[in-house]
Amino acid sequence: MTLVSKDILKAAEILKREELVAIPTETVYGLAGNIYSETAIKKIFEMKKRPFFNPLIVHIHSMEQVMELAVNFPDKAKELAQAFWPGSLTLILPKKNEVPDLITARKDTVGIRMPQHELTLELLRNLDFPVAAPSANPFTHISPTTAQHVKNYFDGSLEMVLDGGNCENGIESTIIGFENEKTVVYRLGSISLEDITSIIGPVTVKNNKEQAPNAPGMLEKHYAPRTATYLVDDIIEFIALHAGKKIGLLLHSTDHPDYAVTQVNYLSKTGHLKEAASRLYNAMHELDQLDLDMIVAQRLPDHDLGKSINDRLKRATK
Ligand code: TXA
Ligand code: MG
Repeated sequence: MTLVSKDILKAAEILKREELVAIPTETVYGLAGNIYSETAIKKIFEMKKRPFFNPLIVHIHSMEQVMELAVNFPDKAKELAQAFWPGSLTLILPKKNEVPDLITARKDTVGIRMPQHELTLELLRNLDFPVAAPSANPFTHISPTTAQHVKNYFDGSLEMVLDGGNCENGIESTIIGFENEKTVVYRLGSISLEDITSIIGPVTVKNNKEQAPNAPGMLEKHYAPRTATYLVDDIIEFIALHAGKKIGLLLHSTDHPDYAVTQVNYLSKTGHLKEAASRLYNAMHELDQLDLDMIVAQRLPDHDLGKSINDRLKRATK
């Protein structure tokens, strides 16, 4: 049985023994291990069934820790960190030799983030090492946004989930790196492009597999329910074409006709994008448990967090 608890000292004790603990963050739950323990890091990859070519994000609690991991902290990166940390921003920086290659998939960069969750920040302050933490789901499955989601995935094989409640933002961090003088967004996420550009001006977006073979987390099929999932513009037509099927709808708002389907889940009754992001994975987990023939998601407006949500929905579909 996996322990689900708020006991930070217990979580710290487990991590110090080179075991894993799932930790809450404001984006999604992470599967955490000591970055300097090869044993712990190998367990992360094994438990997730994640390929070793896919690097992990290192989680820290203070700005000073950046210099333990990165050879330099460029001004643009610092500006972003000052604006968004603690928060849903991952910075890709040139790595120090001390950062194990297993974490960075032999790249010369390391992904670093300071999460905004008081329990996890307090846990990190109790440790004398940072933790690596990918999302706490089996490879390509839907990311967990509650302790129960994590328990459903790993009950028995994981020692503990540190229970921090619902993840407030609900989708993963925005990942940003630097190529020559350019600021590059490798993964759309919880912080919108609009918010990023308001701090540092124009950015280049390389949020897909073709353009960013070096950001393997952006594999095309990812964040996927077990139920066949479709992202459509015309829901009425899709339902008509699939009469007789058990369909679950994932709708952006209540602003629509009454559809004759098995289940309707709303991301936000009022069409609020931040609320939609925070509910996205929870709604997908719920629909995925109903034994439906298909999940049909409605495309969101393509701006602000709507862009990030559409990105996750695209990757969840066949
Ligand atoms: O919000 C989040 O970022 C969550 C929470 C737990 O912090 N973590 C998360 O981790 O989403 P994960 O492993 O599911 O996704 C990490 C992404 C992957 O796409 C990986 O390829 C990319 O980060 N990444 C990590 N290090 C990188 C590096 N050095 N260069 C390029 N991409 C990197
Ligand atoms: Mg993930």
